[in-house]
This record gives sequence, structure tokens and C-alpha cells, in this order.
Amino acid sequence: MRLAVSAASLALLALVVAGSAGGQESEYTRKGADTCLSCHEEQTTLALFRGKHAVPSDPRSPFGHGQLQCEACHGPGGPHSGRVRRGQERPPIIGFGNDKPTPVAQQNAMCLTCHDGDMGFGWQNDAHAGGEVACADCHVSHTGSDPVLKTSTQPEQCYECHVQTKTRMRKAFTHPLTDGKMDCSSCHAVHGDAVDSDLLHVTINDTCQTCHAELRGPFLWEHAPVSEDCGLCHAPHGSNHPGLLSKRGPLLCQSCHSQSGHPSFAFESDGLASEMPSQYLLGQNCMNCHSQVHGSNHPSGSGLMR
Ligand code: HEC
Ligand code: HEC
Ligand code: HEC
Ligand code: HEC
Ligand code: HEC
Ligand code: HEC
Ligand code: HEC
Ligand code: HEC
Ligand code: HEC
Ligand code: HEC
Repeated sequence: MRLAVSAASLALLALVVAGSAGGQESEYTRKGADTCLSCHEEQTTLALFRGKHAVPSDPRSPFGHGQLQCEACHGPGGPHSGRVRRGQERPPIIGFGNDKPTPVAQQNAMCLTCHDGDMGFGWQNDAHAGGEVACADCHVSHTGSDPVLKTSTQPEQCYECHVQTKTRMRKAFTHPLTDGKMDCSSCHAVHGDAVDSDLLHVTINDTCQTCHAELRGPFLWEHAPVSEDCGLCHAPHGSNHPGLLSKRGPLLCQSCHSQSGHPSFAFESDGLASEMPSQYLLGQNCMNCHSQVHGSNHPSGSGLMR
């Protein structure tokens, strides 16, 4: 991991610190975590000590030598930790998550003082940064095991906001996400990488072919849409048609290919043609004959039939 503090994030931090002081003097506590823990002894808070942020032997960690401990993330907590008279409000401290009053940019700046170098060049323009999503909306810090970093638990974190994706992932045919064999980061780089839809690789095909390498080609006889975009026929998040197809049977092919001069009338616009449905289109429909729909390496495979 690279830990780097950019000039930009330092400037932001300066703003944060000035902002959170709200005109009063902004101070760190003298005893650090000991002060905080005198009031915050909940199990949920203490769970921080099971994770990578509380490693005294790691000088980069908030609990490393000379670091600010709790206040490395929560900001100066002197006023917040002081005595409060009855009826008076406790001075606020930076809280994390989209249900907290602290603005998201200010929250994220705290994390970026250490993690700027981990975010990659895409973060600033990422849909999540632009959509005002906080680091803490995806990451849990007070834990020994951040659920978004674990394949079996990651999707649930994402579904909190991406409800439509969740619906698709529950369809009859999907990638094996529910079994915990894959997760969203099998295809997406969610910190952003300047690629459309945050895909892991530059094109959708490169992304799919990291796993489906046998379909990379080049084929002697290519099927044009396959080399162009797997998404022309497949719905990667899930579909009610076998093979994750975006449409069923001959309709899919007929959305591009003319129906004339061919046994291609199993379906018409009003459903199954009653008069002369072609027996050739039952079962695997067009693939009864054009079985090599992804391309063929057979010398006489130009019709994608072998
Ligand atoms: C004297 C007791 C006391 C001390 C010391 C104390 N806190 Fe708090 N803290 C509270 C109380 C009470 C609340 C509940 C917020 C409220 O109702 O004002 C709170 C709330 C918080 C919150 C939630 C903020 C939010 O927006 O919901 C965080 C985070 C927090 N404290 C962190 C810290 C940290 C870090 C320290 C040490 C620098 C610290 N506290 C020291 C009493 C304390
Ligand atoms: C004082 C520096 C510092 C700050 C501030 C900080 N981190 Fe970290 N973070 C670290 C270090 C050091 C590690 C451990 C890196 C390693 O082991 O390679 C780490 C690890 C992580 C990891 C990986 C955890 C794992 O279990 O593998 C995540 C995710 C993370 N930090 C998110 C955050 C978020 C979100 C914030 C803000 C709420 C934050 N960090 C604030 C220093 C910091
Ligand atoms: C949309 C959800 C999301 C947001 C927002 C997000 N992250 Fe992440 N982060 C992830 C996922 C998912 C991974 C794991 C990436 C992978 O598996 O390749 C990750 C990985 C990390 C890691 C590396 C952990 C490791 O051990 O490799 C760090 C550090 C981290 N994030 C910090 C941050 C910080 C700091 C922010 C805010 C500036 C942030 N993240 C915002 C989802 C998110
Ligand atoms: C790596 C950054 C980081 C460090 C270090 C850290 N916290 Fe937190 N804290 C967070 C984040 C992020 C949350 C939001 C919940 C979560 O992710 O676990 C949080 C939540 C809290 C809350 C709950 C506020 C609420 O009402 O939801 C309290 C209290 C708190 N922290 C206190 C502390 C204390 C005390 C320490 C030191 C022992 C500490 N934190 C150290 C990042 C940090
Ligand atoms: C707190 C809400 C929230 C969480 C949690 C969240 N996202 Fe997002 N996500 C957004 C917002 C907001 C956008 C941008 C607006 C939009 O396109 O809907 C977005 C956009 C995206 C995009 C499209 C990016 C683009 O360039 O068009 C992808 C892919 C994505 N999120 C994946 C994920 C994954 C994977 C996770 C879990 C690791 C996740 N999101 C967690 C809110 C969230
Ligand atoms: C098998 C690969 C794959 C997996 C796994 C995957 N996605 Fe996607 N995702 C894609 C592709 C491909 C696109 C669309 C790209 C395009 O057409 O621009 C996409 C688009 C998106 C978008 C943008 C809006 C939309 O629906 O088109 C969001 C949000 C998103 N994915 C969230 C998620 C979440 C959350 C998960 C995990 C639960 C996930 N994805 C898992 C491949 C995948
Ligand atoms: C991380 C690896 C991985 C990536 C990336 C990936 N897949 Fe898959 N894909 C799988 C696995 C695993 C299966 C399930 C295979 C099984 O059940 O036998 C699968 C199944 C499929 C199936 C259904 C196969 C069947 O027999 O029903 C299709 C279609 C598919 N993937 C298309 C895509 C497309 C399109 C993309 C790119 C958007 C993609 N895949 C990206 C791993 C991946
Ligand atoms: C012209 C439409 C079309 C395009 C484009 C397309 N496929 Fe397919 N794919 C199909 C059809 C039709 C099936 C057979 C579905 C069935 O089993 O009924 C299929 C099946 C699959 C399967 C299941 C196993 C197999 O090989 O039969 C995988 C995996 C797959 N496609 C991945 C991909 C990938 C990756 C891409 C992009 C490189 C892609 N497809 C592009 C139409 C297409
Ligand atoms: C997104 C549009 C699209 C879809 C969907 C599509 N195709 Fe194609 N197909 C093409 C294009 C473009 C060509 C190249 C035509 C050319 O070179 O004249 C082609 C070529 C072919 C050829 C070779 C024709 C030749 O002799 O050059 C066959 C066979 C074929 N497609 C069958 C299918 C089948 C079967 C399906 C359904 C699984 C299908 N296509 C779905 C666009 C599509
Ligand atoms: C009974 C077998 C059979 C079925 C079923 C079938 N085809 Fe064909 N198709 C052929 C033959 C034979 C050719 C001529 C191949 C050649 O010249 O190499 C052909 C050629 C084609 C061509 C090349 C252009 C042309 O018209 O010569 C396309 C495109 C095509 N078929 C699409 C389809 C589609 C779409 C379907 C499903 C609606 C389909 N085929 C179903 C046997 C079949």
C-alpha cells in the first residue's frame, strides 16, 4: 500500500480543521484514545482494535508512534471531550457515514490524509465521489473484518444503494455472486479508473474475457457483435433467460438479422406463429444450426455452424 499525502489533501485538511473549530480554538486531547475511551467504551467502538487501523507497530497506522490515534480520523476532539454543563450541547466531532451532519467532503478528506495514494487516478472523477458517497458508506472502520473487502459480504454493502442491481442479481440466471464465488469487484473498480461504468478493464469485452478467456479469439470467422460488446446479447447482472441472454431465442438474433429467406419464423410479432412455426427453431432455435455463435475456427465455419 502506498501512503502519500498530496498537497491537495493537506490543503483540504487545513480547511477541515479550520472548519470544525467553528471559530473556537481547535485542540487535540492530551491523552488521545484514553480520553475518548473514558466515555466511549461500547463494544462497537472497541472493535477498532481488531482491525488494521490500531497497529502500534505500524508507524503509518493511526495508533503508530506519534500518530493522533482516534483523532487521526475524527479530528481534534479537545472541546468535544471536555466537561459540558447541564443543558449545554457537547461540541461536535467529525462523524462518519451519510447519516452524520459532517459534510461528506470533510469526512473523506480525513481518510485521504493517509489514503490519497491508494485511490488511483480515477477517484476524483468517479461517479461515487461525484455522487457524494462517503468512504464510510462502503467501508466499516471499527471492525476486524471490513465486509466490503470480503467476497461473501461485499454485495450486500452495495445493494444498500444499488437496489436495481440487487433485483437483477436475484433473477433466474446470474453470475455466482449469491454463492460468494464472485463479487462486484470481479468486474468493477469502484474507486474509479476513468473507465465507463467503473469497469475493471478498458472495454466490457476485456473485462469479461479475464475469466471467459476462450471467447477472446481471434476467430477465423468472427461474429461481429461478439468482438464489439458482449452486452449486445448478455445481461451481465442477471436475466430470466438461460445463458444470461438479454432476450430469448430467435428474437435476440432477429433483432439484428432479417427474417427472410430462412427458417426464421418460430416467432412473429404476436408470439408463436400458429400457422407455420419452423421445427428448426424449437429447442436451441437459431443455434440448432448456428451453434458457434461466438465465432468459428473451422475452415468452412463462415455460417457459424461448426
Ligand atoms: C466526556 C465524555 C466524552 C468524551 C471524553 C468523548 N466523547 Fe465522543 N461523545 C460523547 C457523547 C455523550 C456523544 C453523543 C453525542 C451527543 O449527544 O452530543 C459523543 C459522540 C461522539 C461521536 C458521534 C458523532 C456524531 O456525529 O454522531 C463520535 C464519533 C465521538 N463521540 C468520538 C469521540 C472521540 C474520537 C473522542 C476522543 C477525542 C471522544 N468522542 C471523547 C461523549 C464523549
Ligand atoms: C493515520 C493514517 C490513516 C487514516 C487517517 C486512515 N487510515 Fe485506513 N489504513 C491506514 C493504514 C496504515 C492501514 C493498513 C495498511 C496495510 O496494512 O497495508 C489502513 C488500512 C485501511 C483499509 C484496509 C483495511 C483492511 O482490513 O485491509 C481500509 C479499507 C481503510 N484503511 C480505510 C480507511 C477509511 C475509510 C478511513 C477514514 C475513515 C481511513 N482508512 C483513515 C492508515 C490510515
Ligand atoms: C462504492 C464503495 C466504496 C467507496 C465509496 C470507497 N471504497 Fe475503498 N474499496 C471498496 C472496495 C470494493 C474495495 C476492494 C477493491 C478490490 O477488491 O479490488 C476497496 C478497497 C479500499 C482499500 C484497499 C484495501 C486493501 O486492503 O486492498 C482502501 C485503503 C480503501 N478502499 C480506502 C477508501 C477510502 C479512503 C475511500 C474514500 C476516499 C474509499 N475507499 C471509498 C469500496 C469503496
Ligand atoms: C480509521 C479511522 C478511525 C479511527 C482511527 C477511529 N475511528 Fe471512530 N469511526 C470511524 C468511522 C469511519 C466510523 C463510522 C462507523 C464505522 O465505520 O465503523 C466511526 C464511528 C465511531 C463512533 C460511533 C459514532 C456513531 O454514533 O455512529 C464512535 C463513538 C467512535 N468512532 C469513536 C472512536 C474512538 C473512541 C476512537 C479511538 C479509540 C476511534 N473512533 C478511532 C473512523 C475511525
Ligand atoms: C451510499 C450509496 C452507494 C453505495 C453504498 C454504493 N454506491 Fe455505487 N453509486 C452510488 C451513486 C450515487 C452513484 C452515481 C450515480 C448513479 O449512477 O446512480 C453510483 C454509481 C455506481 C456505478 C456506475 C459508475 C459509472 O461510472 O456509471 C457502479 C458500477 C457502482 N456504483 C458500483 C458500486 C459497487 C460495486 C458498490 C459496492 C462495493 C457500490 N457501488 C456502493 C452510490 C452508492
Ligand atoms: C460479470 C461482471 C459484473 C459483475 C459481477 C457486476 N457487474 Fe455491474 N456492470 C457490469 C457491466 C458490463 C455493466 C454495464 C457496462 C456498460 O454497458 O456500460 C455494469 C453496470 C453497473 C452499474 C451502472 C448502472 C447499470 O446498471 O448499468 C452499476 C450501478 C453496477 N453495475 C453495480 C454493480 C454491483 C452493485 C455489483 C455487485 C452486486 C455488480 N455491478 C456486479 C458488469 C458486472
Ligand atoms: C471473475 C470471473 C468472471 C468475469 C469477469 C465474468 N464472468 Fe461470466 N461467468 C463466470 C462464472 C464463474 C460463471 C458461472 C459458470 C458456471 O456456473 O459454470 C459465469 C457465467 C457466465 C454466463 C452464463 C454461462 C451459462 O452456462 O449459463 C455468461 C453468459 C457470462 N458468464 C457472461 C459474462 C459476461 C458478458 C461478462 C462480462 C460483462 C462476464 N461473464 C464476466 C465468471 C466470470
Ligand atoms: C450475438 C449474441 C452474443 C454475443 C454478442 C455474445 N454472446 Fe455469449 N452467448 C450467446 C448465446 C446465444 C449463448 C447460448 C446461450 C444458451 O446456452 O442458451 C451464449 C452463451 C455464452 C456463455 C455460456 C457458455 C458458452 O460458451 O456457451 C458464455 C460464458 C458467454 N456466452 C460469454 C460471452 C462473452 C464473454 C461475450 C463477449 C466476448 C459474449 N458471450 C458475446 C450469444 C452471444
Ligand atoms: C447486435 C446485432 C446482432 C445480433 C443480436 C446477432 N447478430 Fe449475427 N451478425 C451481426 C452482424 C453485424 C454480422 C456480420 C454481417 C456481415 O458481415 O454481413 C452477423 C453475422 C452473422 C452470421 C454470419 C453471416 C455471414 O455469412 O456472414 C450468422 C450465421 C449470424 N450472424 C447468426 C446470428 C445468430 C444465430 C444470432 C443470435 C444468437 C445473431 N446472429 C445475433 C449482428 C448481430
Ligand atoms: C435449419 C438450420 C438453420 C436454422 C435453424 C437457422 N439457419 Fe441461418 N443459415 C442456415 C444455412 C444453411 C445458411 C447458409 C450458410 C452458408 O451459406 O454458409 C444460413 C445463413 C444464415 C445467415 C447468413 C446470411 C444469409 O441469409 O445467408 C444468417 C445471418 C443467419 N443464417 C441467421 C439465422 C438466424 C437469425 C436464425 C434464427 C432465426 C437462423 N439463421 C436459423 C441454416 C439455418
